[in-house]
Amino acid sequence: MIRQTTMIFLLYLMASCSGGGEKTEATGGIPGARTDLPKTLAEVEKDFASFKGIGPVTSVTLEEAISEEMAAAGKVIFDAKCSACHKTDKRFIGPEPKNVLSRRTPEWVMNMILNPEEMVSKDPIGKLLLVEYNGSPMANQNLTQDEARSVLEYFRTL
Ligand code: HEC
Repeated sequence: MIRQTTMIFLLYLMASCSGGGEKTEATGGIPGARTDLPKTLAEVEKDFASFKGIGPVTSVTLEEAISEEMAAAGKVIFDAKCSACHKTDKRFIGPEPKNVLSRRTPEWVMNMILNPEEMVSKDPIGKLLLVEYNGSPMANQNLTQDEARSVLEYFRTL
């Protein structure tokens, strides 16, 4: 009889530990946001194709061939406005843009460039990224959408 009571108590403990409270936290309680989010960046990244980010960019078409002209323009912008915090191929103050399209959608990347404040406070990946980078926020460099698109093209060459 005592054993049975202990079992029931343990089951109760297990059930209350796996409750939904933590999941709501992962979305910041934004109404209508997904509530089935896993908690770590690595887990969210597995599902990156479904995240387009928050901002002005809803759809980007990447041609198969990289535009050298656009990439060259993007490199100039990157060197001037981004390299203080980003090295192309290794982690620095921010992540390396090399292979970024293997973990983010093109829309997400452009929204991160154009709207970093909202991205790190509301986007599920952005929020976890801010934590990963010790709360040091990505600076809005006030690029135009065309400039951000050029930088994205440059990232494809890295
Ligand atoms: C003041 C430092 C700083 C500057 C300047 C900066 N960034 Fe960032 N960037 C960061 C940090 C830090 C992160 C990680 C997210 C966070 O902590 O806000 C980040 C994240 C990113 C990401 C997401 C990468 C990933 O793996 O998800 C992209 C893309 C990006 N930055 C592009 C740029 C571009 C393009 C520029 C220039 C127009 C730029 N950044 C300028 C600090 C900076």
